[in-house]
Amino acid sequence: MGKTSKDKRDIYYRQAKEEGWRARSAFKLMHIDEEFKIFEDVQRAVDLCAAPGSWSQVLSRKLFESRLTDDEKLAVKILAVDLQAMAPIRGVTQLQGDITKESTAEAIIKHFDEDGNQKVQLVVCDGAPDVTGVHEMDEYMQNQLIVSALSIATFVLEPGGKFVAKIFKGRANTLLESQMLTFFQHCEIFKPKSSRPSSIEAFVVCTGFSLPAGYIPQIINPARDDIRELAGKTGSEINRKLLPFIACGDLNGGCDESKMTKMGNFSAEAYSIAYDTMKADLEFPDEFMEEMENMFNGLINGN
Ligand SMILES: C[S@@+](CC[C@H](N)C(=O)[O-])C[C@H]1O[C@@H](n2cnc3c(N)ncnc32)[C@H](O)[C@@H]1O
Repeated sequence: MGKTSKDKRDIYYRQAKEEGWRARSAFKLMHIDEEFKIFEDVQRAVDLCAAPGSWSQVLSRKLFESRLTDDEKLAVKILAVDLQAMAPIRGVTQLQGDITKESTAEAIIKHFDEDGNQKVQLVVCDGAPDVTGVHEMDEYMQNQLIVSALSIATFVLEPGGKFVAKIFKGRANTLLESQMLTFFQHCEIFKPKSSRPSSIEAFVVCTGFSLPAGYIPQIINPARDDIRELAGKTGSEINRKLLPFIACGDLNGGCDESKMTKMGNFSAEAYSIAYDTMKADLEFPDEFMEEMENMFNGLINGN
């Protein structure tokens, strides 16, 4: 059976058509909200990887259309970012760009700075790279996008802010959750009922944002950057310790002890998975590969 006829049988596909949502994905964000109340107390939000725009439509309806007066509407700021352009949505400003690039992060920050160094209460990211069909590779590439989304969130989220991002369910999820806990009080992996059971996607829902003391936000693209060099550029000791962990799962530098207890211990298996995914990444910089191999070998062997 072709994809189209299968889609047409789907209740959320039909409901999306009837209700004017651009994609059935709209229901995923609404179901996440039903469970976690992510729109509560939110006036400013960023929608990363937003095209064709169904999540932005939800944000518009929940945050903008629901406000009664012009003044209230004026205070709402929703920024949608994607590689692709999309049709306009009321109350939503669009920015075309690659979220893994520093210039895009700068443009996002500038957009909120215009009104006096404003921060946002919510960052969502439904980004998906081109799927190769090799599960570990796809999961790894998805994680790279999340790291970029998370690094943008470290610039623009206000304390206590929320972060929602699509993930591919896999064995490295425990590590991902732990990385998130470096910046958030709570973190949960959730599969909304509108996400097809056959799909490996799920969503990481994080609340209670707080920047670790001494950490200087940086845009990270683990597939492109030399992480240690990048961290060194800030002059922050905390970045030097945390960035390799955030980007690649490296625990060598150590991190906040209290949060480490919450994360639990990492198994040799978790390190093996991180190592395998790194090795599978054809873009991984050669000069960094040797250092990472030594580090992972030490961790896997418990040295
Ligand atoms: C599943 S779609 C998002 C659907 C959207 N949430 C909606 O409800 O309409 C994934 C999007 O991620 C975008 N994307 C992938 N990599 C990106 C990147 N590096 N920067 C910006 N957008 C990206 C793609 O262009 C695509 O539009």
